[in-house]
Amino acid sequence: MKKNRQYTGANWNVPEDEFTQSFYEQNLSQFWRPEDIAMQADLNVWHILPKNVQDAYAENLQVLTFLDTYQGDIGMPVVSRSMPEDMHQAKSVLNFMAAMENAVHAKSYSNIFMTYMSNEQIDELFVWGEKNEYLQKILDIIVGHYRHLDKMTYQRNYNMQNVNFSQLEFEIAQYKAMVASVFLESWLFYSGFYYPLWFYGQGKLMQAGEIINLILRDESIHGLYVGRLATLLYENFDRELQEEMKKFTLDLLEELYEQELLLIEQIYDKVDLSHDVKIFVRYNANKALMNLGFDNFFDYEEVNPVVLNGLNTETKTMDNFSMKGNGYQKMKSEALADDDFYFEKPAINR
Ligand SMILES: [Fe+2]
Ligand SMILES: [Fe+2]
Repeated sequence: MKKNRQYTGANWNVPEDEFTQSFYEQNLSQFWRPEDIAMQADLNVWHILPKNVQDAYAENLQVLTFLDTYQGDIGMPVVSRSMPEDMHQAKSVLNFMAAMENAVHAKSYSNIFMTYMSNEQIDELFVWGEKNEYLQKILDIIVGHYRHLDKMTYQRNYNMQNVNFSQLEFEIAQYKAMVASVFLESWLFYSGFYYPLWFYGQGKLMQAGEIINLILRDESIHGLYVGRLATLLYENFDRELQEEMKKFTLDLLEELYEQELLLIEQIYDKVDLSHDVKIFVRYNANKALMNLGFDNFFDYEEVNPVVLNGLNTETKTMDNFSMKGNGYQKMKSEALADDDFYFEKPAINR
């Protein structure tokens, strides 16, 4: 039989770069399942909350659900598929992250809904998300970059006679999709995280807060990892193209920020927190830029200490048969620090 392509196996004995295997370890060591957190203990607090508060809380989790759904179904798989065929380790890390997004993160939001709300209320909430102009627009912008890259990947892999772009043009599309991915992971999630953290920081709705902290811990390494991959591409671009990509990044930030503000007001005005949430969102936009190797865009502002308290990654509750704190780990691993993911130089051993 005529062989038409060269297949290669994943050889974990030879690191593909200086960071992928560290991210592999970290991802697997912090694996968790939605059912690890029992939700019942939150019910006595949930049921006495006023309707406007319940609505804002549920709408936020719905925003997070939509973002995680698309990050799992499209975002991570597209970036994975776009990687060179023999970068099996990078693909495996991206695929693992993809599985977490929908199968663990989105599923966890559904578990919270199933505990707090009736079937009818849940159905209404999903319709709210489907009809929400700002959420839909945000997804359209982000997913647009994923789809564009995926079309090029498909052409490159399966429709070679119709390839009318260069390797550099492919890498530009790949870079843009990665920027969109980092914005989603390290920035856009945070308007939704704010409210559960605000409660958690005050000792309320603790089980949902534990879930949010576990998700946040995952998203933070996702944003760091894809940011590292993006930076590798960026460093190989010439000066002029780097400037162009930086401009693209800041333009995308402004485009998304405009929709974010509208979405925040729609959700948080009813609980008088929009002002505070916007500060938190600007703070995290700067963090996303940092993951991509860029300077801050927004000036430094003080974030609500209650929310920072809710962000505390120290274990707050311990495993007692049915309840697992955010210190829960399948395997032994250490808490993350920013410098765990600082690597001298982004050399690729390929
Ligand atoms: Fe996620
Ligand atoms: Fe993620």
